[in-house]
Amino acid sequence: MCGIVGYIGNREATPILLSGLKRLEYRGYDSAGLALLEDLPRAVSTNGHSSSLINSTRLVIEKCKGKVTDLETLSARSPHHSTIGIGHTRWATHGIPSDTNSHPHTDQQERLAIIHNGIVENYSHIKDRLLARGHTFRSETDTEVLAHLIGEFYAEKQNLTEAVRLALNEVVGAYGIAVVAADSPNEIVCARKGSPLVIGVGNDNDYFIASDAAAIIAHTRQVIYLSDNEMATVSRSGIKTRTISNIEITKQVEVVEMELEAIEKGGFDHFMLKEIHEQPQTITDAMRGRVIEEEGNIVLGGLQNHLDALRQAKRLIITACGTSFHAGLIGKYMIEQYARVPVEIEYASEFRYRNPIVNDDDVMFGISQSGETADTLAAMREGKRKGALALGIVNVVGSTIARESDGGVYIHAGPEIGVASTKAFTSQLTVLSLLTIMLGRMRHLSVVDGRSMIRELLEVPEKAQSILDDTESKIEEMAQIFKDAANFLYLGRGYNYPVALEGALKLKEISYIHAEGYPAAEMKHGPIALIDENMPVVVVAPQDDVYEKVLSNIQEVRARKGHVIAIATEGDEQIKKLAEQVIFIPQTLPLFTPILSVIPLQLLSYYIATARGCNVDQPRNLAKSVTVE
Ligand code: G6P
Repeated sequence: MCGIVGYIGNREATPILLSGLKRLEYRGYDSAGLALLEDLPRAVSTNGHSSSLINSTRLVIEKCKGKVTDLETLSARSPHHSTIGIGHTRWATHGIPSDTNSHPHTDQQERLAIIHNGIVENYSHIKDRLLARGHTFRSETDTEVLAHLIGEFYAEKQNLTEAVRLALNEVVGAYGIAVVAADSPNEIVCARKGSPLVIGVGNDNDYFIASDAAAIIAHTRQVIYLSDNEMATVSRSGIKTRTISNIEITKQVEVVEMELEAIEKGGFDHFMLKEIHEQPQTITDAMRGRVIEEEGNIVLGGLQNHLDALRQAKRLIITACGTSFHAGLIGKYMIEQYARVPVEIEYASEFRYRNPIVNDDDVMFGISQSGETADTLAAMREGKRKGALALGIVNVVGSTIARESDGGVYIHAGPEIGVASTKAFTSQLTVLSLLTIMLGRMRHLSVVDGRSMIRELLEVPEKAQSILDDTESKIEEMAQIFKDAANFLYLGRGYNYPVALEGALKLKEISYIHAEGYPAAEMKHGPIALIDENMPVVVVAPQDDVYEKVLSNIQEVRARKGHVIAIATEGDEQIKKLAEQVIFIPQTLPLFTPILSVIPLQLLSYYIATARGCNVDQPRNLAKSVTVE
């Protein structure tokens, strides 16, 4: 996601900020920027005849779309001397990657600058209020709105810490922020809620701020970690910490023991494992600001202009590739069940070349993590050409599919670095769940049903966390048992048939073991011939409408001496007697089970691949973004 760096001390700030930003590049970003407080000696007239020099401070902002090296070039063109500043790498969430949307953002008076990681959910509400008071905005970002709000309080209170604190009390959402102001040249105010922030204590009365210790460990390993709802005022003489409800607190200085590479991976051995573990957070982020529980409804900003088309659509067409295709397949099951609209789903590479039938009242969804997959893009263009409304479900803001679509929904999963997609998949499913509720509420779903679905969905992140907490070590042990298998079969029915496809794909991608995913009942039409004592069969068997049928399929595997690994619902005693290995997941509504049932399958592929010594983050022959057909 976005990265934050800050420095206050006696040294030149710019090189420290730029080198910090470079350390954060691995997180993925699309633009970068700095705000510096530059000391300007200024001549003032003292008695009408003579003049003397005093220091005044100027706020300097440098920012651009592109890489940190582009920012470095920009900054070198007119060097500014400063010993206090903040820097940011942006991963767009509101507004395309552009110079204007890059951070830092300033307030109406341009007295202060802010950098921000996270999402201000209620920004449009605050923006409307500020617009009514005569504010004007340059960017499309939620962050600029926060800058203006802080600016209002700053004008009133003349105290930066208090201004930030009062503004944050109005914010709904997630943030890690750092703020500087020209009139307060000796302090950086920072705060955190749901987006990490660490303060480094240097040796020379200097202090560092970062969203990730990787940015500052070249300077110091002594750090203070802010917790949610805490803020700090960092000056050259020390750090003052308080909660955003204004209770002073004392924080412990801790020592970072990890090496740089481990910090970048959040302490995990691979980005893939880190991304698997991020899922409770990324599923939450996909829902953030979109749920109106009381009305049992969903608001998806990027679809607001197309509500009539969605209401009147006779058919939806989903197109995608790879893991995104599997998410789309689950989307079809969800939408058809709850919104009762026919949904066709097709591999983008097939759709684009087979002269598909597309009608004017069709609505097409292209699902793509990267937003750059050549086949998905071409399929979307083809659908548009034939008259469909083309909407995107995309992770990367400002990507080609996002730009060329008529509208869409961002999944807000943050950069996915591991080539094998994990967190993007569960975020896509979360967005498809929201879409299902929204389309359902336009048609046959009652407010009461909408509400109860929303309540269940809101519990999914916590359940995902419990799967990670409770099953990982068992799965790691299981990987040792099955790592030398030559083939794997994955079975599932209903909502979990695509999960079986995805589980098999994950295993192939990173462990190079041949794996097939199948609808469980189809096994008897072919794959059953392969089952013997050497074949592990992963069966996704939560207690849903087709549970009893899946149990029969498990019996069929056992009768042929296959090894059954079951993914089952907590408390299922029956399955323990049938399967050799069982991984339990919490109960949820059947349509949401894939968000949970895929997590053990991701972990299983990961641990089998690492047990086989494979490079899980960069598997052979695979690319993260396939921009050729
Ligand atoms: C590649 C990646 C997969 C991804 C697929 C579709 O094959 O390795 O992880 O699922 O492309 O990518 P997209 O960015 O369109 O979701």
